[in-house]
Amino acid sequence: MEVKNKILVTSALPYANGPIHLGHLVEYVQTDIWVRFKKSIGHDVAYICADDAHGTPIMLKAKEQGISPENLISKIKKEHEKDFKSFFVDFDHYSSTNSKGNEILCKEIFLELQKNNYISQKVISQFYDEKEKIFLPDRYIKGECPKCGAHDQYGDSCENCGATYAPTDLKNPLSILSNTKPETKDTNHYFFNLKSFKDYLTEWTTCNDLQPAIKNKLNEWLNDNLNDWDITRDAPYFGFKIPKEKDKYFYVWMDAPIGYISALKEFSEKNNKFENIWSDEKDGEIYHFIGKDIAYFHALFWPSILKGSGYRTPNGIFCHGFLTVDGKKMSKSRGTFIKASDYLKYLDPEFLRYYFASKLNESIEDIDLNFDDLIKKVNSDLIGKLINLASRCSAFLDKNSNLMLSEVLEDKDRFQDFVNNIDEVKEFYSHRKFSNAISKIMSMTDKANQYINEKKPWSIDDLDHVQKISTQGLNYYRTLVILLSPVMPNLLKHSESMLNEKDLIWEDSYTPLLDKKIEKFKALKNRIQKEDVQKLKDELLNKDEKKKPQEEKMNTEIDYEDFSKINLIVGEIVKAENVEGADKLLKLSLDLGDLGTKEVFSGIKKFYKTEDLIGKKTLVVENLKPKVMKFGTSSGMVLAADSNGEVIVLDLNENIKNGSKVK
Ligand code: 2FM
Ligand code: ZN
Repeated sequence: MEVKNKILVTSALPYANGPIHLGHLVEYVQTDIWVRFKKSIGHDVAYICADDAHGTPIMLKAKEQGISPENLISKIKKEHEKDFKSFFVDFDHYSSTNSKGNEILCKEIFLELQKNNYISQKVISQFYDEKEKIFLPDRYIKGECPKCGAHDQYGDSCENCGATYAPTDLKNPLSILSNTKPETKDTNHYFFNLKSFKDYLTEWTTCNDLQPAIKNKLNEWLNDNLNDWDITRDAPYFGFKIPKEKDKYFYVWMDAPIGYISALKEFSEKNNKFENIWSDEKDGEIYHFIGKDIAYFHALFWPSILKGSGYRTPNGIFCHGFLTVDGKKMSKSRGTFIKASDYLKYLDPEFLRYYFASKLNESIEDIDLNFDDLIKKVNSDLIGKLINLASRCSAFLDKNSNLMLSEVLEDKDRFQDFVNNIDEVKEFYSHRKFSNAISKIMSMTDKANQYINEKKPWSIDDLDHVQKISTQGLNYYRTLVILLSPVMPNLLKHSESMLNEKDLIWEDSYTPLLDKKIEKFKALKNRIQKEDVQKLKDELLNKDEKKKPQEEKMNTEIDYEDFSKINLIVGEIVKAENVEGADKLLKLSLDLGDLGTKEVFSGIKKFYKTEDLIGKKTLVVENLKPKVMKFGTSSGMVLAADSNGEVIVLDLNENIKNGSKVK
């Protein structure tokens, strides 16, 4: 038998600051299908991944939750692993970049790069938030675009005109952490000299497995100026310290890909077959599956870092596009941001795998999850054709031959013709043309059903003949389910139980199973009910509806004229009463000085005892249209702040006169 190469495969490491969503799953499902296929045809494959555990967002998220970053990343890692398992994404090893092994390796690689003169130091000027005492990453600064003047743009690029710039170019910059104007401050950083690798990268790009669109992009970048890459972040930061430095850390994008190597090292403790793969090109192949947005890191920095520190480089980088849902970008406010765990409440994970496979190919085009299309593909193709084939044939065998398969097929040549299609499917999988593989499998399913429809076993009296036809039909199913197994591994498992078989591999799909007793057919999959999709959609919309008005308010600008229409008046709360029958409301009487008194209802009962409100001077929207409520009329509004879920009535200086107008 031909000796197959060893292959190391990775998917991008997901950040440990949020849940896995369907956008992520495009990549993990895509990689998992390819890995399962390669394993099925006999390759030794290690599929390795890890949580990407460092960086400012993770540090801040932990702070926001009042827990340590270590606690946050360990909690999230468990959630990630659970989601992956539910979707049958089967890593051979799943680690975290925050491991001792990764720290040691990261420092080793850095020192090696330094020794080889690929690291330099430079003092740079960066935005600093004096209030929060932190240097600000680009995404934590907002201001006006230096090119088109659009407001509210991040520190790295403008969503309005697409310009990219340095954060210090923004006009009227503000720190999004404290809403204060950031200062510029000097700091000494370490840089990786990417320029030195221009020739190597040019060659690497030509010789390796890269998609044409990515190759073009790389050539563009290579022909531009390759800037040195800043690999330092200042404290406070959650990451690994730079050797011999006190308050300086490796940028998360430095230690994350090194996680590919350290995670494999951990795996090698259980399975030493892959021990040398990162040092010896001849030992096997390495492929990274990633989203097209991080091609820059993987195809420029990563091979250069590897080369510069004496490691071999990957054989290929496979990029995929983004996921849209019902034609729209995934967004919480539109209800199209679907977490893996939400999907699982209503729908079968293998249906999503099947659907993604039916859409994925070797290009970097975005793919759309259209729910009507999902229902159609699953119900008419998967259930209506494939599962139905198994159910029909096993029903005949059950009825006529006590679930015994015949010793020979009814039409051996016809079965051989069918089997002759397998290699085409194999080629498609090999080249990640999954949508072609699925089409081919489905056209083979049509042929199998055609066979049964032509032979009409239900109208035949000769039981032996019926047994042979049903045996042939069930063998078509068996072949098809093996071909589909990289996509639907659980369906294969259940089909194996029905067929009394185990660990079927690709090779088994060419030969029929004969003269054997099988088990009774149990519904292998059920159709998608439209209501379940609707329930999922409703849940997503309801979850985010609450956020929507707030989000929209935050993003809508008003002009001075609009603002000046609001009469903001200082009022003193002179009376506060509970309202019978209202869980949330308090009735407040306000003294507005010369403007008289006002009564308003305010939803703050949960946060205040009535007596604590008396005497508070606060801000009142005086000219709000009176609102008739079940309990009376509310003639204004008291301003309060939502402070981490706690509503606090604005409390003004007691010397301000009641009725003063805010200007
Ligand atoms: O873009 C991301 O989600 C990163 N966490 C991917 C890291 S992949 C690798 F380089 F570690
Ligand atoms: Zn702009």
